Amino acid sequence: MPRLDDKVTLVTGAASGIGLAIAQRFHDEGATVVLTDIADTAGAANAAALGERARYVHLDVREEDDWRSVFAMLKAEYDRLDVLVNNAGITGWPQTKGPHDPEHLDLDSWHQVHATNLDGVALGCKYAIQMMKLHHTGSIINISSRAGLVGVPAAAAYASSKAAVRNHTKSVALYCAQQGYGIRCNSIHPGAILTPMWDFMLGPEETRAANIQALGSDVPIGRMGTPAEVAHAAVRTAHRRRIAGRHGGHASKKLPDPVESQLLR
Ligand SMILES: NC(=O)c1ccc[n+]([C@@H]2O[C@H](COP(=O)([O-])OP(=O)(O)OC[C@H]3O[C@@H](n4cnc5c(N)ncnc54)[C@H](O)[C@@H]3O)[C@@H](O)[C@H]2O)c1
Repeated sequence: MPRLDDKVTLVTGAASGIGLAIAQRFHDEGATVVLTDIADTAGAANAAALGERARYVHLDVREEDDWRSVFAMLKAEYDRLDVLVNNAGITGWPQTKGPHDPEHLDLDSWHQVHATNLDGVALGCKYAIQMMKLHHTGSIINISSRAGLVGVPAAAAYASSKAAVRNHTKSVALYCAQQGYGIRCNSIHPGAILTPMWDFMLGPEETRAANIQALGSDVPIGRMGTPAEVAHAAVRTAHRRRIAGRHGGHASKKLPDPVESQLLR
């Protein structure tokens, strides 16, 4: 039985990789899906391929005006949002000039990574809370990373931004609980998932397969994960009021802990 029947959902960064897999899976589960991205051609093609109950809207997660106009559209068209997936993210390696190691980091590159990975999530949470509270229900899912739980020497901004996403998720969850809004906010922490994000690191065709194998051998399950596996976790998080494996949280006994799904590692 579809688990997201009649749910209105929005996914950022849905032109590619994990965001696309989540959009496809949500659609399979009966949801109406608003796919958003800055890669408009691919995003629109993905929405068209899904057909009914799917549409594409341009949304640069760094731009508050974009968030305002997308939520104005949601209000006018659906008058609600049930699930927001803050998925859009960048490593900073191909997108900025870097470097990204702690000793030599380029400050502008550092800010650019945080603008997408952290400011984008904070803005998404802000506007989702304002709309979801009107119906006393909603689920916000923030795609953090294993990198948010450990350091990454050559990608300090990425690791820092993902750790901040983890922490902001808890602030949002606790704030919504305090306000009695009925809104859940959880983070998912994928390990290495084979998506276009890795293209820059996997190198040319001749070495790609060997590099994928080497990366996979460093993962406890012996392989890189798939976007579909993260999408499965997102469906469970969107659907359920609680999931097993509660982790982290706040000292107060009055407030529920937010949940983190740690995948693969
Ligand atoms: N692939 C992995 O191993 C992995 C592991 C842990 C976490 N993640 C996280 O999962 C999320 C998705 O990553 P992916 O692997 O699918 O990467 P991807 O590069 O395939 O997809 C990222 C998408 O985000 C979009 N995007 C980039 N900047 C944007 C912006 N400013 N506004 C809106 N959209 C923007 C891109 O156009 C792209 O479609 C990211 O947050 C990433 O950090 C990925």
